[in-house]
This record gives sequence, structure tokens and C-alpha cells, in this order.
Amino acid sequence: MRAHPSIPAPDLVLVASDTFGTSLLDDVHRGLAGQRKTLPAKWFYDASGSELFEAICELPEYYVTRTEMAILSRHLDEIAATMPPGGTMIEPGSGAGVKTRLLLQASVPATYVAIDISRSMLELGAAQTARQFPSIRVVAIHADYTRLDRLPEAVDLGDAARTLYFPGSTIGNFTPEETRAFLGRVARWLGPTGSVLIGVDTKKDRAVLEAAYDDSEGVTARFNLNLLARLNAELDADFDLARFRHRARYDEALGRVEMHLESRVDQEVTVGQRRFTFRAGETIHTESSYKYAPAEFRALCAGAGYECSNTWTDAAGAFAIYRLVRSASATTITPHRTGDGT
Ligand code: TRP
Repeated sequence: MRAHPSIPAPDLVLVASDTFGTSLLDDVHRGLAGQRKTLPAKWFYDASGSELFEAICELPEYYVTRTEMAILSRHLDEIAATMPPGGTMIEPGSGAGVKTRLLLQASVPATYVAIDISRSMLELGAAQTARQFPSIRVVAIHADYTRLDRLPEAVDLGDAARTLYFPGSTIGNFTPEETRAFLGRVARWLGPTGSVLIGVDTKKDRAVLEAAYDDSEGVTARFNLNLLARLNAELDADFDLARFRHRARYDEALGRVEMHLESRVDQEVTVGQRRFTFRAGETIHTESSYKYAPAEFRALCAGAGYECSNTWTDAAGAFAIYRLVRSASATTITPHRTGDGT
């Protein structure tokens, strides 16, 4: 519904992009057929998954959200000053976004582009942003941002400077190789003068890390198990949630926390006509969360053609926000690429 003509309606553009490629069923069949079972983490975020994730962000053990928020608040003016007013802010995986609102308030871009795989979350978040910031043009793109090579043509962003905002250590949910590929791909969204503002978790004590992904209230467990509930609801699968348990373990050598769903018993499960057997103790690997020492993360970015211009951290170094710009050598190559190069 449009608002009364004297009250400007939020400039909200919803663009559906055909980037989904694989269906939930294909992904589940492929993931459960292998020697080591996996499920892609992007399917966590249905309506209840998104809600549970919001609850995770409030947990005492989950230091990530509040530490990033504290760094952002503390250095807000300096961070916002790196984003020229009148520019464009692009946020892949835009959730509910307290951090986003803080940043929009301080930097006042002309356009905010939200990209999300969950249509309900996207619409809700974008409408809220548009209402709160009537001067900002809000563009919502319904897409799997990990497969989006270019922003849809319908989204005309002009020449204003573009900033990719990627908080929450979501980048840690990619492998280092995927991170390199993702940063290479977003370079094409951003153009040679674009920059990236990215929040990344750091390496720390095992107990702290494992508690953050296995909280005492069991919210993270419910979040992980919700994936199976989703398969039951959407694919008519017959997972008995009581026969699986949530596991979180820090693999120090790989520098990542792994989330698994572990079968408590020997069992068989049917998903869309296909049967899968589980031995007691066998797991489905549902998510990894990589942790990077600052020097390590900056080196990874250098490999993707970026230079780090700023690093902001808390006093304990529990989390870091980086600003990345294209390295001089990278900007001469990227604009001419049309294919699927890195
Ligand atoms: N980007 C978040 C992180 O790695 C995602 C996340 C937090 C998450 N808790 C989770 C993913 C639990 C799966 C399960 O910190």
C-alpha cells in the first residue's frame, strides 16, 4: 500500500534475480548422498531460522554481534567518513540490521541495496529501512548473493561510490577459497572505486569459541535442528528431531568452528522419495565459521585483489572490522572482465 501522497512513499524496488541455480531438494540429495554428509548453510534461513538467528545474536555466549556493534559505535564517525555521502551501500545477507541502521544514519547514502535469499526477511528489512530513512532509495534484490555475478540491470546505481557492507563474520562461513572467489565477484558489483566494509571474527580461546556456537540455553541447537524441521515441512522428509543432536567443535588446525547434526542412533530417513541411512554418531556438517587473525585475513584479501586501508578492533581483539579497497594492480584488470574469472 502506498502512503498518503503528502508523505513520500518509501522508494522500495524489489528485484527477483534468477540466481538460485540449485533447489533445496537437489542440495539435500547431493549433500546427504556423499561419504561425509553435508547440507548448505544458506538453507538455515527460513522464517523460524531467521528468527532463531536473531536470538543467537542476543545470547551472552555469542560475543560476535555485541563486540562488532561496540566497535562500530565507538568508531562510527571515522567509519562513516570513509563512505562519501550520496553514495551507494550494498548489503548482501541483509538481516534485521541494527548495525546497518546505525551506519545508514551516520553515512546517509543516496541508495541502499539489500540482497537476501529469504524473501520474507528481505521485504521486512527493506520496508523498515525505507520507512526509517525516507531520503534513502532502498532497493531489495531477492537473490542468492553467492551466485550473483552482476547486480541486476534494472538496478541503476549510477557512478556514485559503492560500499559493500558485510558484517557479522558471514565471510567466515565461506571457506578461504570461497572467500577469495566471493571478494573477486563483488569487485564487479563495486567497480574500481568501490570499497568493502567487512566484520570478521578473530581466533581465540577454544572454550570461548565453542560456547558461542553451543549456548547453554540451546538456541543454537534449535537453530541447527530447524534445518531438519524445514526439510520435513518443505520436502516432506521424515527426520525425527529427537534423534539428532547439535554439535559444535573448534578445529584449530583449520581455524574454524564446525557445526554438525549428529545422529543419536542408527536410523533411516526419507527425503523426497530417497532414503538415507545414518549410523549412530554419524554427522551432517551444516556450517563452518572460520576465524582469522588480522594479518591472516589481510593476506587473504590481498590474494583477491584488495588492500586493507583500515582495521578497527575492540581492546581485546575479539573481533575486527576491515575496510578494503581494490589494489592498484587489480583495478586495471577487473573492469574488462566479462567471463567467470576470479
Ligand atoms: N556468521 C555467523 C558466525 O559464524 C553465523 C552463525 C552464528 C551461525 N551462529 C551460528 C551459523 C550457528 C550456524 C550455526 O558466527
